[in-house]
Amino acid sequence: MFFKKKTVWYKLFASVEAANSQLNIGRVTTINIGKKKICLAHTSEGFFAVNDKCPHNGASLGNGHCTVEGSVVCPVHRYHFDLKTGRSKSGLGSYVEPYPLETRSDGIFIGFEEIHWDLF
Ligand code: FES
Repeated sequence: MFFKKKTVWYKLFASVEAANSQLNIGRVTTINIGKKKICLAHTSEGFFAVNDKCPHNGASLGNGHCTVEGSVVCPVHRYHFDLKTGRSKSGLGSYVEPYPLETRSDGIFIGFEEIHWDLF
């Protein structure tokens, strides 16, 4: 029996145009995918997705905002988290989990790493 990691992709938007019309540059929002809450941010570098729960005290990062430096800012205590790496930029020794996004011809997708097992 072997455990294998596999990325499972979920469609967020049907197209880049649909994504742009629903989330303007400089905005963040919270989206639910299954049981996961995701903070989706739209910066001048594109879309980014991180876990929505702030590791400091659990606030929803989707209620915050993003900066031109590529951070999401928590709405409660204003800690900054890098949208590419998830690392705190505010001296907090923790991070939020970043999730990969992929733009394809049929839409924008988010990937979640899941563990599966095979008998052979
Ligand atoms: S709850 Fe997010 S910085 Fe405190």
